[in-house]
Amino acid sequence: MKYALLSDVHANLPALDAVLADIAGRGDVDATYHLGDLVGYAPWPNEVVERLHSGGIQGVSGNYDSTVAANYTHCGCRYEDPRQEALSHESFAWTRGHVSPSTKELLARLPFRLDVRPLGGHATGPTFTLVHGTPLNNTTYWTEDRPDAFCLKMAAVAGARAGDLIAFGHTHKPWHRVVGGMHFLNTGSVGRPKDGDWRAGYVLVEVDAAGAIAAERVRVEYDVERAVDAIRRSDLPNEFAGYLRHGGQVPATE
Ligand SMILES: [Fe+2]
Repeated sequence: MKYALLSDVHANLPALDAVLADIAGRGDVDATYHLGDLVGYAPWPNEVVERLHSGGIQGVSGNYDSTVAANYTHCGCRYEDPRQEALSHESFAWTRGHVSPSTKELLARLPFRLDVRPLGGHATGPTFTLVHGTPLNNTTYWTEDRPDAFCLKMAAVAGARAGDLIAFGHTHKPWHRVVGGMHFLNTGSVGRPKDGDWRAGYVLVEVDAAGAIAAERVRVEYDVERAVDAIRRSDLPNEFAGYLRHGGQVPATE
């Protein structure tokens, strides 16, 4: 079984479409799941949610999805400085003002977590637990520098055992570690990478008949200028356009 796992689309339709075309073009991907944060920061929240819904792509609720659906006071995001915090509030207000009732309903229905058994629930073999942030909540940032003890604690919360995999996003920076025989996989971000690479990111995970797991990180070029133009033409902060162009690491001169 081969899976495509994608996260943090953040209303970036050209990036999502490029990733879905890349997955379809491979011809050997059995199932695709998203790991949440479908909306926020770019101007296509309704289109992104509709694209995934009509494509039958299931997934879990990111902090942006659940806070928009619940009319919460903010997106549950972490801010690195006051300017970022102000921009983040603008994005949240914009998104709340532009999601349609049906989009909001679809966001509200997203489950917190999905468990997948690639070899079938009748057989022993790995369980994939899909969440947005951690198995505890969708707001905690599970970064690569977390100690092994943190990974093991989250595995215990999820009920994971050796041979299983926990996949998540939220930090927008992809990484993969094996601790205690369990795979911890951050899939990165489709529509708002923060690792300095502007291309849309997702992960392919393959499980063989013996239950062995192999993960492959994929980056896909997309029409980033279409996203840049659309952000500039919208009431969203123009800073979000430069952010996409530079993979979240905007030079101080810009
Ligand atoms: Fe996100």
